[in-house]
Amino acid sequence: MSSLHPETRVVHLPRPELNGSRPISVPIYQTSGFVFDDPAVFADGMGRPDGAFVYGRLSNPTVRSLEEAVAGLEGGVGAVATGSGMGAINTVLLGLLRSGDHVIAQTALYGGTDTVFKDLEARYGIAVTYVPEADPAAVRAAVRPETKLLYLETIANPMTQVADLPGMSAAAREAGLITVVDNTFASPVLCRPIELGADVVVHSTTKYLSGHADVLGGIAVAATDELHRRIWSYAVELGATADPFAAWLTLRGIQTLPLRMERHCSNTRLLATRLAEHPAVAAVHWPGLPSHPSYDVAAKLMPEFGGVFSFDLKGGRPAGESFMKAVKLALLAPSLGGVETLILHPATTSHRGLDAEGLAAAGIGEGTVRVAVGIEHHEDLWADFEQALDGLPQ
Ligand SMILES: Cc1ncc(COP(=O)(O)O)c(C=O)c1O
Repeated sequence: MSSLHPETRVVHLPRPELNGSRPISVPIYQTSGFVFDDPAVFADGMGRPDGAFVYGRLSNPTVRSLEEAVAGLEGGVGAVATGSGMGAINTVLLGLLRSGDHVIAQTALYGGTDTVFKDLEARYGIAVTYVPEADPAAVRAAVRPETKLLYLETIANPMTQVADLPGMSAAAREAGLITVVDNTFASPVLCRPIELGADVVVHSTTKYLSGHADVLGGIAVAATDELHRRIWSYAVELGATADPFAAWLTLRGIQTLPLRMERHCSNTRLLATRLAEHPAVAAVHWPGLPSHPSYDVAAKLMPEFGGVFSFDLKGGRPAGESFMKAVKLALLAPSLGGVETLILHPATTSHRGLDAEGLAAAGIGEGTVRVAVGIEHHEDLWADFEQALDGLPQ
């Protein structure tokens, strides 16, 4: 399987053997537990992530199919699926850190993750030093004897800075740190952080992996058996593991991930390029534009640049509000990665936990609008954007 292209692998997921045949699609094993003939097999299954299925909080065949599929796509040895992206992030951080440890994280982070880091510091005395996402020297300078982990996002939310994964993870490796990368925005179709030096990859599978805005989920993929076992043990302890129906919906979505990513990216390229030339627009933030500070880093790491971008209007916040009210096809809604184009105002929604200083550090303006581009026809989307920009200050 591993020699096949991702487009083929997502279609031919492993199928369970039945009595002489196999189901075409992975079934939902809607059971809380499993029955054994052999007590030794029962006991063994309790203690490892890849043993016999025992109890739903430890594992389930549908959930494991998802874990194997994503681990394969990301180039990891194993994965742990969770009930949400935040479930995966908290499981990894709490499972790998102890009070008194120190973490280095990039400054531009998803708002929910930023809240977790602030909480780690306040609750557990786990100090966090923030560094730019493409500055390995800053990682080296921040390392202390108690530093354990470097935390990055492949493409940051919402200003789409791209982390220098090879450089940053090499600096972390020199210091013996574990590098954790949130790969939600890129998906394994655009970037596989483990191949670039990461030890753990996390996803909100709510987004591109499931792809249809109908399920919450998360996953942590480990590069080594040891990390896989540690993350799994803590997920079981927390009770953060995924349920079979959510895993099934996510598996179903993954089968069209490469196709959808192609359209998300090409639609985004068109909208971002045309918006950048529009007289009402002050700036467009998308790493596929040569004007973006991450353009060079992104071009080295990814064949395409993702399906999310942000932009600022010359009319500031009032213009942003008018635009969000005027669009008809694009929906004002949280989240991203589904088939519909969604827009939101980060300063009052996804990043409302940041104060003015934090917003400025993340590069988020008062009037910044984030767009998660769907798979509609690009000309319909552009027509919608154009009519919403009509009459805004130029
Ligand atoms: C980059 C990123 N990571 C993690 C999360 C959290 O995922 P979830 O909402 O599935 O908990 C999000 C949610 O928007 C996100 O954008």
